[in-house]
Amino acid sequence: MLVKIIDYDHQGRGIAKIDNKIIFIPKVKLGEEVPIKIVKEKKNYSIGKRCDSFKVSYCPYYQTCGGCQIGHLTYLEQLEFKKNTVKNIFSKYTNYNLDNLEIIPTREYNYRNKVTFHIKGDRLGYYEEATNNLIPIDKCNLLDSNIITLTAILNSFIKVHKGLTKVIIKSLDGKLMLILEGNESRECIKEFFSSKVSSLYYNNELISGVSTLMIEVLSKKFMVRKESFFQVNKEGISLIYKEVIDLVKKLNSSIIYDLYCGTGTISLLVSDYAKKVIGIEVVADGILDAISNAKLNNITNTEFYLGDVSKVINKLKYVPDTIILDPPRSGISKELIEFLLSLKVKNIIYVSCNPLTLARDINLLDSCYELNYIKLVDEFPNTYHVETITLLNLRKKN
Ligand SMILES: C[S@@+](CC[C@H](N)C(=O)[O-])C[C@H]1O[C@@H](n2cnc3c(N)ncnc32)[C@H](O)[C@@H]1O
Repeated sequence: MLVKIIDYDHQGRGIAKIDNKIIFIPKVKLGEEVPIKIVKEKKNYSIGKRCDSFKVSYCPYYQTCGGCQIGHLTYLEQLEFKKNTVKNIFSKYTNYNLDNLEIIPTREYNYRNKVTFHIKGDRLGYYEEATNNLIPIDKCNLLDSNIITLTAILNSFIKVHKGLTKVIIKSLDGKLMLILEGNESRECIKEFFSSKVSSLYYNNELISGVSTLMIEVLSKKFMVRKESFFQVNKEGISLIYKEVIDLVKKLNSSIIYDLYCGTGTISLLVSDYAKKVIGIEVVADGILDAISNAKLNNITNTEFYLGDVSKVINKLKYVPDTIILDPPRSGISKELIEFLLSLKVKNIIYVSCNPLTLARDINLLDSCYELNYIKLVDEFPNTYHVETITLLNLRKKN
């Protein structure tokens, strides 16, 4: 059947209507008329799939791969889509109308410094959208050039050695960490890959090279261990962190909490502008990195605590004037919302990778805190994801 695309949802899927029932269709453009078939029927909506063939210039796998969702839009259309999505979410779930919302662009391709590939036999790739079907990948143009080169080497290796099951590659400032799982012999893996990467892990064991990689961001150095979270786009994070630093500089804070601090990046970058910065993170490798990173940069006014933010925060003895939040996609917990409502801290800088949970949390905090600043950074071009930086201030009545 032929349908007309009348809107997008927040994941960049096109929306069409037949007999008033909504159909979500991936990888179509607003205003387009496309032939589709229904692949899933639900009570209130259906999922459709376009059945004509189409191409994007940067990727031969685009039509089936689940990695990119909006690469068929021009970059300007992508930026417009992201702005409109955040505006629509905020007007639906908060009291704010975001006129004049700004988005900072980044480079469209070769920006990802980390990738996870799945392997089945002699095929390596990503899963097809919404399935576990493997799409063999020779080259993904979102990845940085060193990862692309290593991917080609891995592809030639698995044609002969079929015992690998999973691959993670990290590439920071020109150095590669390769994390492999499988049932090939340790010696074979070591012999083939040790000269090609700086750090080689096999089945959770460091078998060659260094245990951490190093990256420099905004003149500070960061060590990143195997399990630590590190943002995937260096240009993107530099823009995000610069936004956070600029906000912190204006706030004249004495004590700052950096919640969900990962490897301590934000804590260390804002440490020049406060008496003390306290970071909390649930992943042990992250906290170990944060402590090492403070030493590496000769920073002495930071403290880092391991554990769930909601549990650790009640035990801290400080009274912060600024709290920085950079949670995962699920946003912040109910307990943390309660804590922030009772603490009445002067400033909250909330960095979010999910506008839906950000809007939810801003709404839950609305009785105490008002939104005074918001900006977007396009950290993940060609996907529907976007990073948002916001500043909330304690309302005057409090
Ligand atoms: C979006 S990342 C931000 C990391 C860091 N701010 C950065 O820029 O690299 C979210 C971090 O929150 C951590 N995390 C997730 N749930 C948590 C929790 N309940 N308590 C503490 N940390 C948590 C994750 O391990 C991850 O490092």
